[in-house]
Amino acid sequence: MNTSFPYNPHYDDPYFSPGAGFAEATHVFIRGSGLDLNIPRGITIGETGFGTGLNLWALLTHLPDCSRQSGAFPGRPQGPADALDQPAEAHSRPAGVQSSPAGSRDPAENENPMAGSQNPAEAQGQPAEAHSRPADLQNPAEERDVVDRLRGQPRERKNPAEESPELWYWSVDAYPLEWDQLQEWLQPYWDSGELSALNPGDVRSWYQALGLGLGRLGWHLSSWDFRGWRVRLALWQGDVEGMLSALGHSGVSFHGWFLDGHSPEKNPQMWSSEVLQDVGALTLPGGFAVTYSAAGVVKAGLRRAGFQVVRRPGFGVKRHMVVARKPASGPEGVFEG
Ligand SMILES: C[S@@+](CC[C@H](N)C(=O)[O-])C[C@H]1O[C@@H](n2cnc3c(N)ncnc32)[C@H](O)[C@@H]1O
Repeated sequence: MNTSFPYNPHYDDPYFSPGAGFAEATHVFIRGSGLDLNIPRGITIGETGFGTGLNLWALLTHLPDCSRQSGAFPGRPQGPADALDQPAEAHSRPAGVQSSPAGSRDPAENENPMAGSQNPAEAQGQPAEAHSRPADLQNPAEERDVVDRLRGQPRERKNPAEESPELWYWSVDAYPLEWDQLQEWLQPYWDSGELSALNPGDVRSWYQALGLGLGRLGWHLSSWDFRGWRVRLALWQGDVEGMLSALGHSGVSFHGWFLDGHSPEKNPQMWSSEVLQDVGALTLPGGFAVTYSAAGVVKAGLRRAGFQVVRRPGFGVKRHMVVARKPASGPEGVFEG
C-alpha cells in the first residue's frame, strides 16, 4: 500500500486527512449535506478545490442505481446568460466588501498554523481569466450540452421518462494534479475497499478526458455514465474568482456547494467575503454549502452571503464543521420537506 502524504506545496497544507480522506469526505460533504440520504435527479453541485476529486468520487459511491429508472428533477436549475460570449473579466465586487484577512482559527481544530499562501494566478504568470471557452471537449454533443448550460439555454430534451438522471459537478483548481499523483493518493482508498464501487481504470479515463495541463486555463469537461446516471464534470483550471465570474455570467444555479479550499489561514483567497458572496448568489433557495472549516471568517462570510449557518461535529480531531442553508423562498425550495 502506498502511504505517500497528500500534500500541496503551493499552500503548505494537506489535501485531506492522510489515511482518512474518504471517511472525512463522506462525513463532511456527503453526510453534512444530507446527500447520503437523497441525491435528487438533475442535481447541480459546485465545489471550491477539486484536488484529487475525492469528494466527487465519494459522492458517486452514494449514487442510487438508476439503471432501470427514470424521471426528471423538478428543481433543475436554468438561467439566462451568455458566459461564453463574454470574457470572464475580473469579478465586479459589491461596494464596501473587503478581502477577508486570514481566518481566526480555533487551535483545538488542529489546523496547521504555518503561513505561506500564494496567489495561484500570479504563480502561473498569467491571469486565470485568460481562457473563458471550454477546452478539450470529449465530443460535439457534450460540448453543445455544456455550452447550452452555460448560456442558460435548456437543451432539447427527450421524453423525461426515457432520460438518464444527471449529476452536474462544477469545480475548480488552480493547480490540477497529474493522474499519477492523484492515483497514488487515492490508492489507499481502493486498498481499503472504500472506493471499490469505482473502477480505477474508469476514474483514470474520466479524469484524463478533462485534458488538464500547463497553461490550459478555463473550462475542461468530461462526462460519463455511472449507475444509470449521466455524470457531467466541468472543471475550471485557474483561480476560483475566474470560475465564479464565469458562472455568474452564465446564470447556472446550484443546489449546493462543497467548500474545500485549504485552511483559511493558508489559503484565504478561497474563503474571502467575495468568494462566499458569489457562492451565495449562485445558490438556489433551500440550497446548501458545507465545509470542514468552522473558522470564524468562514461562518461570518457565509452569513453575510445569505446562509443560515449551523455547526456540526467535525471529522477526527476537528471539533466542528459547518453546514449552511439558504432559506427556502417557498414550497419549491430545493431539499425542503
Ligand atoms: C484542500 S484541497 C482540496 C481537496 C480536494 N477536494 C480533494 O478531494 O483532494 C484545496 C484545493 O484548492 C486549490 N486551490 C487553492 N487556492 C485556489 C484558488 N485561489 N483558486 C483555485 N483553486 C485553488 C488547491 O490547489 C487544492 O487542490
